[in-house]
Amino acid sequence: KKPKITVLGSINMDLVTITSQVPKRGETLFGEHFQMNPGGKGANQAVAAAKLGAQVQLIGCVGNDRFGEDIVAHLQEQGVDVSNVEPVTDITATATIIVSDQDNSIIVVPGANNYVTASFVESKRDVIAASDILVLQLEIPLEGVQKAVQIAKENGVKVILNPAPIQALPSELLKDVDYFTPNEHEQELLRKNRAEEELDGKLIVTKGSQGVCIYEDGEEVIIPAYKVDVVDTTGAGDSFNGGLAHALSKGLSLKDACKYGNAVAALSTTKLGAQTGMPTSAEVEEFINSQK
Ligand code: RIB
Ligand code: NA
Repeated sequence: KKPKITVLGSINMDLVTITSQVPKRGETLFGEHFQMNPGGKGANQAVAAAKLGAQVQLIGCVGNDRFGEDIVAHLQEQGVDVSNVEPVTDITATATIIVSDQDNSIIVVPGANNYVTASFVESKRDVIAASDILVLQLEIPLEGVQKAVQIAKENGVKVILNPAPIQALPSELLKDVDYFTPNEHEQELLRKNRAEEELDGKLIVTKGSQGVCIYEDGEEVIIPAYKVDVVDTTGAGDSFNGGLAHALSKGLSLKDACKYGNAVAALSTTKLGAQTGMPTSAEVEEFINSQK
């Protein structure tokens, strides 16, 4: 039977402005383009895996508003099971994203994502317990993440934690996750607080155009990134994590799963928008073969 992937996390509406220049304090500028796209790290990771053909369940909250309705309909179209996405009396989270030549910057207003508390997660215990892999990020309350990891542990469910956006994490939590996927910058901040040995065998550091780094018997192994014409890197990390989860659930080795995740991430960056550009499994295979 098909492995079950459960993603627990944020669901945002991305409000994206494309500009060649970023305003200084108090300054008003004209931008080039505006677009609204469904986003949020949790939803992005769920869509990435679902597009690849995985059986994906998303657990999270949206507001009782137009954005929430639109996003849920969109997630369903993408093949994500939304029966555990609950509407709450707050606004759907927004991410105001400025895409410029220099870099992307993002402001998230969590709204409904704040309702993914420990007690909310406890109410989803059976869903988590019935999964093969649980995928988490840090755009929801930490207590919700901790509760989910605890339930997963109790039920032999493998856990991928993508620590984004980064915050201080209890050692207990890191001990219980199976794969930990910070980007370079997040890893740098974490390194200050803890010994790398603590993450032995579970650390996967994503380094953008340099690829990803895993550790085998203490040795650094680089799995190089694919070169593509980049339009927008928003959601590239999420695409990697969704691809990784799908590949691991299919029984690929960690190395091959990272390679697969790299292909998913590369293809996702060729289109504007976090979820736009995420490939199907046929597209990934064709792409990997064309790169040989
Ligand atoms: O990782 C990308 C996501 O981060 C965007 O979709 C946006 O919602 C922000 O939260
Ligand atoms: Na994209």
